[in-house]
Amino acid sequence: DTRAAKALKDYIRTIPDFPKPGIQFRDVTTLFADPRGLRLAVDLMLHPYAGTRIDKVAGLEARGFVLGGAVAHQLGRGFVPIRKAGKLPGAVLSERYTLEYGEAVVEVHDDALQPGERVLLVDDLLATGGTAEAGVRLIERLGAEVASCVFVIDLPALGGRARLEAMGLDVVTLCE
Ligand code: PRP
Ligand code: HPA
Repeated sequence: DTRAAKALKDYIRTIPDFPKPGIQFRDVTTLFADPRGLRLAVDLMLHPYAGTRIDKVAGLEARGFVLGGAVAHQLGRGFVPIRKAGKLPGAVLSERYTLEYGEAVVEVHDDALQPGERVLLVDDLLATGGTAEAGVRLIERLGAEVASCVFVIDLPALGGRARLEAMGLDVVTLCE
């Protein structure tokens, strides 16, 4: 680990057996609750994109909203929510994806991005990559381009990074 990654991990709590027995749940509420932790995470997420053109920031519900909102504010760009099915009030595009257990659907407003816009996709954690891949598909269906995807935590055993990189995407993660 780099020193930054070590510092970040000190703010992340692990809850055993959530949401199911055997799962070690990486809990970022402790990172978000600490002012130095939150600032460190947002600063580290922004750092790789200095000098890069980003037109919009998209966040994945729910923890990607906290980080994505802060990142968008710092970049001086707008924020686009990618939400679980049934939450967005306007006309939407939908993508179904597979979870560790079962299936889910994410949606984006069909006018949330313009063709050619370069989008930074933000979430707290990359596991199988299913959620992020569905988000990427929504962004691309709107004619926009995913400039990069950024996550605080990578769970490398679950293969998310490899899956996104196989789609030709740029992937940034801050710690494992
Ligand atoms: C978690 C996490 C990511 C996703 C990662 O969210 O915040 O969005 O799972 O898993 P994946 O890489 O295997 O798709 P969750 O689905 O628990 O939703 P929530 O943030 O609304 O609780
Ligand atoms: N923490 C938070 N979200 C998750 C995890 C985890 O450990 N695994 C899959 N999604």
